Amino acid sequence: MNSLYSFQTAGRIVAGPHSLKQLHEHLSIFGEIKNVLLVSTPFFKENSFNDMITEQLEKAGISYDILAEVEPEPTVRHIEELYGKMAGQKYDVLIGLGGGSVLDATKLLSVMSTNALPLRSMVGTDKVKQEGIPVILIPTTSGTGSEVTPNAIVTLPDEELKEGVVSRHLLPSLVILDPILTLSLPPSITAATGMDAFTHSFESFISNKANPISDMFAMQSMRLIARSIIEAYENGDNIAARHDMLLGSTYGGMALTSAGTAAVHALAYPLGGKFHIPHGEANSMLLPHVTRFNLDHIEERMAIIAKEIHVIEDGNVSNHDAAERLIEQIENWTQTLNIPQDLKAFGVKSSDVADLAVAASKVTRLLNNNPKTLTIADMENIYKKLLN
Ligand SMILES: NC(=O)c1ccc[n+]([C@@H]2O[C@H](COP(=O)([O-])OP(=O)(O)OC[C@H]3O[C@@H](n4cnc5c(N)ncnc54)[C@H](O)[C@@H]3O)[C@@H](O)[C@H]2O)c1
Ligand SMILES: [Fe+2]
Repeated sequence: MNSLYSFQTAGRIVAGPHSLKQLHEHLSIFGEIKNVLLVSTPFFKENSFNDMITEQLEKAGISYDILAEVEPEPTVRHIEELYGKMAGQKYDVLIGLGGGSVLDATKLLSVMSTNALPLRSMVGTDKVKQEGIPVILIPTTSGTGSEVTPNAIVTLPDEELKEGVVSRHLLPSLVILDPILTLSLPPSITAATGMDAFTHSFESFISNKANPISDMFAMQSMRLIARSIIEAYENGDNIAARHDMLLGSTYGGMALTSAGTAAVHALAYPLGGKFHIPHGEANSMLLPHVTRFNLDHIEERMAIIAKEIHVIEDGNVSNHDAAERLIEQIENWTQTLNIPQDLKAFGVKSSDVADLAVAASKVTRLLNNNPKTLTIADMENIYKKLLN
């Protein structure tokens, strides 16, 4: 637990079912807006959510372009191509509508527009010099919490690794949290992104940088996700469950902004970079194994989680037993959510383990937050557990 801590978040958050309809009421915070770029994915190209945004812009007399081309888990090259398509246009505000991939891309396009720096040189912490074009972020998955984090994750194809651009200039001015936008999420993406969100809060809670502010958001996030992840997976139309998942995900982003994620995310990055395993699935697979490795350092914290999310109701259970029950609960969720538990399904072989561990060992930004130090051999053992 850190004795000194800080917290920062998005400028304004507007939330609740159908809150997207209120977008126009909040545009005044940007002063006079003439031209907007809406960044999105092909999935949202012909979608009513897009229309809902563009109709409000039209009513307000604001002209706009649409760049609905962001690919999942974007690479540096892909973001640079997207930036190339903005050339010659002056935008007053960028709006990102989509999952973490779109939100991260929007944040990066914003700072690329004002910093005369190649994207690669902004990778790392506090490498962005100037604030970007003001940004509005509208998440359509409940997972990354990117709408409230100063992070954007990109794949560096040469190194086959994902890395973060981390800067306060990536925080948006306005966030809209409308659970209605997440009703169309298919069960598999609901499962993977929901477990990503849970992992953010779990890792923030056991992080070396955990503190009273991050704990508050992390714990409430875990309560919301624990009570609604299976319902959102099985009954995607349940707005109350979707609302819990979206808030749980945003709170997870708030927690990790202050406390950081740890070894689960560090080991997940090479699986995304090299084998293109979806981020949430990689985290979900690793979470029980990394937690067993950490267990002797985090039993007390885990017992608190187990009690708060009602995995144990009996106050007489030892911290060790409570922690074990929490791991079982996480494993039960991944089974019910049909998240794969074997890296072989993604083409990973035993001969890849050594390289994966070396790549993960370079993610020191996150490994430093882990309550227990991992050697390369420890990381290899964890990957091997997923190759049975
Ligand atoms: N910036 C951060 O703080 C942060 C944190 C964690 C992860 N990430 C990054 O975010 C990315 C992953 O984001 P994600 O998990 O949200 O997935 P995603 O944005 O890659 O989207 C996954 C898929 O879901 C589809 N989709 C999105 N919303 C939908 C909806 N409402 N209905 C139907 N389909 C929909 C997308 O089109 C895409 O095909 C990765 O690149 C990861 O590294 C960023
Ligand atoms: Fe994550």
